[in-house]
Amino acid sequence: MIIEPRTRGFICITSHPDGCEQNILNQINYIKSKDPVEKAKKVLVIGASTGFGMASRITSAFGSKAATIGVFFEKPPSEGRTASSGWYNTAAFEKEAHKEGLYAKSINGDAFSNEIKEKTIDLIKADLGQIDLLIYSLASPVRTHPKTGKRYKSTLKPIGDTFTNKTVDFHSGEVKEISIEPASGDDIENTITVMGGEDWQMWVNALKESGLLSEDFKTVAYSYIGPKLTEPVYRKGTIGRAKDDLEQTAFTITDSLKDVNGKAYVSVNKALVTQSSSAIPVIPLYISLLYKIMKAKGLQEGCIEQIYRLFDERLYETIVPTDAEGRIRIDDWEMREDVQAEVAELWKQATTENLLEIGDLEGYRDEFFNLFGFNFDEVDYDKDANEMVEIPGLV
Ligand code: NAI
Repeated sequence: MIIEPRTRGFICITSHPDGCEQNILNQINYIKSKDPVEKAKKVLVIGASTGFGMASRITSAFGSKAATIGVFFEKPPSEGRTASSGWYNTAAFEKEAHKEGLYAKSINGDAFSNEIKEKTIDLIKADLGQIDLLIYSLASPVRTHPKTGKRYKSTLKPIGDTFTNKTVDFHSGEVKEISIEPASGDDIENTITVMGGEDWQMWVNALKESGLLSEDFKTVAYSYIGPKLTEPVYRKGTIGRAKDDLEQTAFTITDSLKDVNGKAYVSVNKALVTQSSSAIPVIPLYISLLYKIMKAKGLQEGCIEQIYRLFDERLYETIVPTDAEGRIRIDDWEMREDVQAEVAELWKQATTENLLEIGDLEGYRDEFFNLFGFNFDEVDYDKDANEMVEIPGLV
């Protein structure tokens, strides 16, 4: 079928298998162009199909020759209807990994559930014995709690006061003011339940109880801080509370890993266009200004560059460099004073009329469509594409 992008709000409801493959090949080629990392050997990635999780899987496999198991929640294709992009990404990743003789299998289902945890544990037992690295890169708006069956929804709201600021509709380019009402009722607790550390801890406990964690095991989850500009809606908002909880959980997990000399880290990553970040108000305007400045300074990175730097310069150092709160920082270039000062200045000026010029709205849109396999020069979008792609190692 001929596949075109069809957007609804901040998501794209179609995705292109050949474009997703191109996206994955570009990331693999980047890793192959760098020095090997050669550290991780048996890796489980939760949230492995897109964004930082996929970049972590690619870095492990192609930078460190690791066997990888990926867990994610993606929509398979049906005749005449495309799969979600993470499905096609994974198919492309596995195809390339298998070509190089690397073990790669995947599990599609709800990572919050007991069933998917058990399935993953059985697979590790049968095929890998133990794992030495667990990457936790879930981003989800909902969680059904495995103990109670209750479904929780996360929110992206400020806490205390209504937050009013600029934002951009990145499709139309319109810069406008929005007001977001503060959290009420159980919004904070619910967001912590979905995006906080409880599920990460449950994964580690379940793997540990089954004896699947190797000596010197490491686990990493991803967090975000960002600038003052986005603080009310991000770091000091409901999602920020969940990230506080996730960051605290790293210490609890580390305490529970003493017998295997294991360690849990949170890595604070840079703001990037992903399916999750496009959904957060204000962030798309911030990202388009940030990209403009970081590109001009030669500092721009995507998920794959970020994760390579995490593996190469942080995670496997004898003493892992962290900030005062024990977090790994690969948002260091984003948070540089000169970068932030220039973004804050542009923020004051940004209007519908000047954003194309003073910000990188084109770059934003391009990356957004790339997430779904569109806008790649190498792909002929007028050609029939086969939407019925299978993931070879899907368990
Ligand atoms: P993403 O939307 O690209 O990836 C989310 C992944 O989670 C996908 O693989 C998806 O299939 C999987 N997933 C979602 N619900 C699931 C479920 N119930 N069961 C199994 N898998 C499920 O997101 P992104 O942006 O890569 O985020 C990953 C982590 O990185 C999040 O913790 C996020 O807060 C963090 N982060 C993101 C930044 C950004 O700017 N995008 C910046 C810093 C941190």
